[in-house]
Amino acid sequence: MSDSVSATVKRSWLIPFWVGSALLAVIGVSVLGLYWGVYNVAADVPHTRPVFRLLEAVRDRSIAVRAADIVVPSDLSDPERIAAGAGQYAEMCSSCHLAPGMKRTEISRGLYPRPPELRRGSRVTAAEDFWIIKHGIKATGMPAWGITHDDELVWDVVAFLRKLPELSPEEYRAIVRTAPKNHDAMMKEMESGDGHGSHQD
Ligand code: HEC
Repeated sequence: MSDSVSATVKRSWLIPFWVGSALLAVIGVSVLGLYWGVYNVAADVPHTRPVFRLLEAVRDRSIAVRAADIVVPSDLSDPERIAAGAGQYAEMCSSCHLAPGMKRTEISRGLYPRPPELRRGSRVTAAEDFWIIKHGIKATGMPAWGITHDDELVWDVVAFLRKLPELSPEEYRAIVRTAPKNHDAMMKEMESGDGHGSHQD
């Protein structure tokens, strides 16, 4: 082998060598950082901006992909559905997501990420609302209501969420008062099979 050929062969090994070393260094530093507890998981210290952006992108894409095939019922503007959803919202959601005329609660102030005030409107589609309410969101405090509630009850809540931004405090209180059943009655009906019953992802 001539000198120039062997120099080229030697140089062709240099790039993989440095790339491999850099990768090992990054993995080593990450493992040490993890062991030393460098990242603060405290709920009273916000994520750094890159971590926040990354988590937001993971959440949004995860939900969008999974909600893509969900069929939205055509009767979401049915006043009975909205009233049933209002009753559930007041009992199950308002402690975190608040409601028109309601002061911030201790739990809504302490949670991180902060539960959005849903009366300010939704940034997601009705199908995505359904998926989020049914399955919850890991490590955020947003529970999976589908474990204890059937799909129709979840759609009632989605129907109410679509109406919520239009409601004044007085209208909110009035619509909650018209809720057809209290929570216990609704759950009993669901368990005995008299209520609804369909399921989809
Ligand atoms: C214990 C507190 C808590 C309760 C109770 C709760 N949520 Fe949430 N919810 C959260 C948190 C925190 C988030 C934000 C998650 C995030 O930022 O990824 C959230 C997110 C959401 C979102 C997504 C909003 C968006 O724009 O991304 C919807 C929709 C939602 N909740 C609906 C509900 C409904 C409906 C109920 C009641 C059936 C409910 N939540 C009950 C804490 C709660």
